[in-house]
Amino acid sequence: MTDSIKLWGGRFTEKPHETFAEFNDSFRFDRRLFTADVRGSIAYANGLSRAGILTSEEADAIVGGLTQLLADSKIDPKFFEADSEDIHSFIEQKLIVAIGDAGRKLHTGRSRNDQVATAFRIWLRDEINEIAVLVRDLQAAIVDTAEGFREAVMPGYTHLQRAQPILFAHWCLAYFEMLKRDRERLAEAFERVNIMPLGSGALAGTSVRIDRVTVAKELGFAAVSANSLDAVSDRDFAIEFVGAVAILMVHLSRLAEDIILYCSQEFGFITLSDAVSTGSSLMPQKKNPDSLELIRGKAGRVFGHHAGLLATMKGLPLAYNKDMQEDKETLFDTVDTVKMCLSVAGIVFENLSVSEQRTREAASTGYMNATELADYLVRKGVPFRTGHDVTGKIVLRAIELQNELHDLPLEEMQSVCADIGEDVFDALSLESTIASKSQIGGTSREQVARALADARSYLKE
Ligand code: ARG
Repeated sequence: MTDSIKLWGGRFTEKPHETFAEFNDSFRFDRRLFTADVRGSIAYANGLSRAGILTSEEADAIVGGLTQLLADSKIDPKFFEADSEDIHSFIEQKLIVAIGDAGRKLHTGRSRNDQVATAFRIWLRDEINEIAVLVRDLQAAIVDTAEGFREAVMPGYTHLQRAQPILFAHWCLAYFEMLKRDRERLAEAFERVNIMPLGSGALAGTSVRIDRVTVAKELGFAAVSANSLDAVSDRDFAIEFVGAVAILMVHLSRLAEDIILYCSQEFGFITLSDAVSTGSSLMPQKKNPDSLELIRGKAGRVFGHHAGLLATMKGLPLAYNKDMQEDKETLFDTVDTVKMCLSVAGIVFENLSVSEQRTREAASTGYMNATELADYLVRKGVPFRTGHDVTGKIVLRAIELQNELHDLPLEEMQSVCADIGEDVFDALSLESTIASKSQIGGTSREQVARALADARSYLKE
């Protein structure tokens, strides 16, 4: 590239220091915005043409040249071999080389500040849509697994202590719900990404009489930004997006942790197939859930990006500052990371099996039907607080006798509370413990079947 088609330089008599140039240049990473930036430029050239700033021949040459660049980029492996400052100068240089002087008119009334904000939003819109599809795919894999192990019963935990029995499908659907809200958050973030800054110039607006609204329509933006200073200098849309992804990663990390625990010999609830496990270089017997550990670990990386972006933007004076170039790698890595994690999580669900006997045994021990006994006493007219206390005493007695509640002789229970009758054993069975949680959102088989059906129709929408 010759200096004569550098984007700036007229005012300079010396070249930038080599090290500084390397520090300043963003082309090695922002080339990812190539397609988005070309799309923005095509719409901008059409806008300039409608405004009479370009002749229709010039506009045709620019649009044709840019379209050719798009095509070339797909087939020429050396296409991006250049030492440009950034993707914007790269495209402009390529265009001028390809079509000559008409290319020098494209930037009329435009700044890289409104240009980069526009390209970044165009790029992010597509990525949000792709991420939303991956979230949906994971939800579908979760529902498939829930249906595949419909019968499975397992312990539910609080404080990681056995608490009350639940259906495995109910556990699956908890994550389905979290992911549903994640998709909503992404969709809401999308609305605020989908505003066009182009036409804001460097900071004050543009002096060319371009019809921004028509340009926005051509680019699929829902609206144009209302204030040029704001449009070129805020990155709240990016922070909000990374925030939404950070919450999604919280969910994926908890999902990962649950499965990691359930895969341990101590739990033995879930077996992962070899396809998503790794071995040990030293211990021949090991099979480790690295797929899930990496998902759990990568959550931290995304939280770092969120904090980093907030810190970069904090206290920046209006309007554009070069600090903001730091937003690119942050977002690129956030997008790559979350996409990988979602894909791998989906594959884990396809490669997991539930040891139903083991989960049932676990769900049948550990006095998880104690609440049921207290509720039974309530039905016999005992106040709940008294029933709670009585049940605690019976649990203590059962522990002494090394019995589960449902194996305790009736007389033992009656010696603590005379209101207890033979029918207590029905109430204490695993199935009736589960069946009793029959209100909306509970783990009864009926409610879970309904939730699964709702999930299916949600996925069809
Ligand atoms: N590479 C820059 C960025 O990503 C493009 C905008 C440059 N604008 C400027 N006034 N230096 O932020």
